[in-house]
Amino acid sequence: MMLAGAVIASLAGLAIALPHGKVKRQVSQLRPQYDFIIAGGGTAGLTVADRLTEAFPDKTVLVVEYGEIEYAAGLWDPPSTVWGGQGFLASYFSFQSLPTPHVNNRTAIVLAGKVVGGSSAVNAQFFDRPSRYDLDAWAAAATGSDGKNKNGWNWDGVFPFFKKSVTFTPPPAEVAQQYGYTWDESAYGNTTPIHASFPPYQWADYYLGRNAFTQAGVRTRQECAGGDKDGLCWVPTSQHPVTARRSYAGLGHYADVNLTRPNYDLLVNHQVTRVLYPNGNTRSGPPRVEIRSLSNNTFFNVRAKAEVILSAGTFHTPAILQRSGIGHAPVLRAAGIPVVLDLPGVGSNLQDHSGSGISWNYTKPGNFTPMPSDMLSSPAFLADAVAGFNSVPAYGPYTLANPNSAIFVPLPNITANYTSIVDKLRTMAAADGNGTVAAASYLPDDYRSDPRMVAGYQKQLRIIADLLANPRAPSQETTFQTGTALRAINLHPVSRGTVRLNLTDLLAQPVLVYGTGSNPVDFDVYLAQSRFLRGMVKTEALQAYGAVEVTPGEGVQSDEELLEYVKSGLVHSFMHPCCTAAMMPREEGGVVGGDLKVHGAKGLRVVDMSVLPVLPSSHLSALAYAVGEKAADIIIREWR
Ligand SMILES: Cc1cc2nc3c(=O)[nH]c(=O)nc-3n(C[C@H](O)[C@H](O)[C@H](O)COP(=O)(O)OP(=O)(O)OC[C@H]3O[C@@H](n4cnc5c(N)ncnc54)[C@H](O)[C@@H]3O)c2cc1C
Ligand SMILES: *[C@@H]1O[C@H](CO)[C@@H](O)[C@H](O)[C@H]1NC(C)=O
Ligand SMILES: *[C@@H]1O[C@H](CO)[C@@H](O)[C@H](O)[C@H]1NC(C)=O
Ligand SMILES: *[C@@H]1O[C@H](CO)[C@@H](O)[C@H](O)[C@H]1NC(C)=O
Ligand SMILES: *[C@@H]1O[C@H](CO)[C@@H](O)[C@H](O)[C@H]1NC(C)=O
Ligand SMILES: *[C@@H]1O[C@H](CO)[C@@H](O)[C@H](O)[C@H]1NC(C)=O
Ligand SMILES: *[C@@H]1O[C@H](CO)[C@@H](O)[C@H](O)[C@H]1NC(C)=O
Ligand SMILES: *[C@@H]1O[C@H](CO)[C@@H](O)[C@H](O)[C@H]1NC(C)=O
Ligand SMILES: *[C@@H]1O[C@H](CO)[C@@H](O)[C@H](O)[C@H]1NC(C)=O
Repeated sequence: MMLAGAVIASLAGLAIALPHGKVKRQVSQLRPQYDFIIAGGGTAGLTVADRLTEAFPDKTVLVVEYGEIEYAAGLWDPPSTVWGGQGFLASYFSFQSLPTPHVNNRTAIVLAGKVVGGSSAVNAQFFDRPSRYDLDAWAAAATGSDGKNKNGWNWDGVFPFFKKSVTFTPPPAEVAQQYGYTWDESAYGNTTPIHASFPPYQWADYYLGRNAFTQAGVRTRQECAGGDKDGLCWVPTSQHPVTARRSYAGLGHYADVNLTRPNYDLLVNHQVTRVLYPNGNTRSGPPRVEIRSLSNNTFFNVRAKAEVILSAGTFHTPAILQRSGIGHAPVLRAAGIPVVLDLPGVGSNLQDHSGSGISWNYTKPGNFTPMPSDMLSSPAFLADAVAGFNSVPAYGPYTLANPNSAIFVPLPNITANYTSIVDKLRTMAAADGNGTVAAASYLPDDYRSDPRMVAGYQKQLRIIADLLANPRAPSQETTFQTGTALRAINLHPVSRGTVRLNLTDLLAQPVLVYGTGSNPVDFDVYLAQSRFLRGMVKTEALQAYGAVEVTPGEGVQSDEELLEYVKSGLVHSFMHPCCTAAMMPREEGGVVGGDLKVHGAKGLRVVDMSVLPVLPSSHLSALAYAVGEKAADIIIREWR
């Protein structure tokens, strides 16, 4: 397969030029006002900024970014010799949640990008998409009692923007043949410089995992980005097909954008603290944007003529709204903030992917080579790996970023007991004869009291019950690449958390309540997933090398014992927080409508992963780009 000429031509050596000179660092460098102001230069925010400046040469766009502009290496780039070696992330926010009572009071550790490009600059480059059922679940959640789903937030309405948002370059034929890579180019576009590609490398034990899953009955798929992803998938990596360097929004939607485009301003090292409606009148927008210089703590207001777009991510977008007096009235009052707009869903409905793992040992020799341990034990192997990464095209182990395959399995394929789990969920979602909703007791205190939030939760549980019962909709993911450990990711959790301001410092990072395990159905799912995963150790592929389970270990068999094991080792966050400004009707606790406008607020939209109503069966970066593309399309049609 030939590489597109344009891809080769765009490679001016390997040094990636960042436009430090073009970036603004002082409010004094800004224009008196802008047409559009975007809070947060992350994955979705820069996508919108790129499209608006392209579509409207006469309209000005300001992006205000908390972090700096930096080169963003991968998690597995030299000189690091172990995956995720320290010091190779670009700058990031680090969060520790409050203790989670249902998981032995352990805390969730969550990161988010704090740099131009946002989380696409720090993530693990696993570039999968949701299934069509996830988008249709989103549509069901967003649809109001009038039966309308404005702008088509469903699979058919979003798929064209997935295609537009990324350029997929197939691997050379010999690479495809060597590793068995499969794909379907019709799922992708080829115009946007956000790259998806397959690395020309796999470790020697890769096929053990692949064979084990196949022997356990998981079907393989040629392509998983076209709406159907139940099965074993090759997942592209968000990296350049020739250099294997990270591809992210800071390049593809800023540094690589036509730098003579005069209407695109980016201010770094400044925090958007809140938006201000004159006299608190949210009908007279757009609001002014309050900005804080992080170098000297001075505050400024900047005016938008057309609109303000919040793209600060799942944790910081609701924080900006709450500081602005837009949120759940009792929560705002407790923080001493005057209520401008009562929207209880702001900072509620927090969801993330979580899960527990297993590990095993081999008791018969495998003599697998090459293996990651060769990076540490063989100086010659390491030297060749570094040379390979610096070659054009790049080759060798450093072209890997993260595992690039995974299984995505529906609940009916995991446990014969799935109907009991689904029925339990449906029962708790319903009101009893006295109008009491059992599920409400699992919600955090500061929103179960609000009937709008309970109604929205009931609706979400019914939608998730349908996903869990659907024999084509994945509910477990397990990525694999090398080694003797696997994790099960619970793709459709039913527990909920919150993002609230820190009452001792309203400008600081917000406080996270991760409700992990607060709804007991999540534990039924974790148990089923753990049992399914343990089955891999028994497959012929692993038994050929005498695989023996190490954790939880053969001694752990009863539900009670397995539950304790899950609670003690559960990973609360696979870094996919979402849903804290959900696209749902206002009377069901929603924050934005199908046009992404904040309910009841003029000139204010949210465009980032906080608008999802429920988590999809995918990692979130591809979805963040697609949401940015679709949002830009909606905004451009409105202002043209
Ligand atoms: C460590 C890690 C690993 C991940 N791995 C993967 C993966 O392998 N595959 C995948 O698909 N997804 C992965 N994800 C998730 C995915 O990258 C994110 O969900 C997605 O990029 C989020 O996009 P966003 O636009 O919502 O927010 P972001 O891209 O996070 O952008 C938000 C931006 O707003 C800025 N900001 C915040 N507050 C303010 C403020 N007050 N004023 C101004 N600016 C502000 C931030 O600095 C940031 O640049 C990972 C995430 C992390 C953190
Ligand atoms: C504070 O920093 C801003 C940068 O945005 C600058 O414009 C302003 O002059 C500085 N103020 C002081 C008092 O240093
Ligand atoms: C969790 O912490 C709370 C409050 O400190 C305490 O009451 C509870 O017993 C703890 N639970 C566990 C499992 O340690
Ligand atoms: C789930 O099981 C069904 C029925 O056996 C099978 O057709 C399907 O391929 C399985 N799905 C996956 C992801 O393996
Ligand atoms: C870059 O933008 C400038 C100003 O809008 C325009 O004149 C020029 O044609 C653009 N160049 C390319 C290659 O798109
Ligand atoms: C089946 O699911 C129900 C409801 O979630 C649960 O109570 C029960 O323990 C499960 N049974 C088995 C054998 O897993
Ligand atoms: C309704 O409430 C009454 C009084 O608390 C109780 O006796 C009855 O069992 C409840 N009915 C249902 C269906 O829960
Ligand atoms: C809130 O902010 C204060 C002051 O910065 C800090 O000491 C505290 O740890 C924060 N609280 C939480 C829960 O993060
Ligand atoms: C697995 O291997 C490790 C390292 O060799 C060893 O410490 C451990 O005892 C082994 N466990 C089992 C169950 O064989």
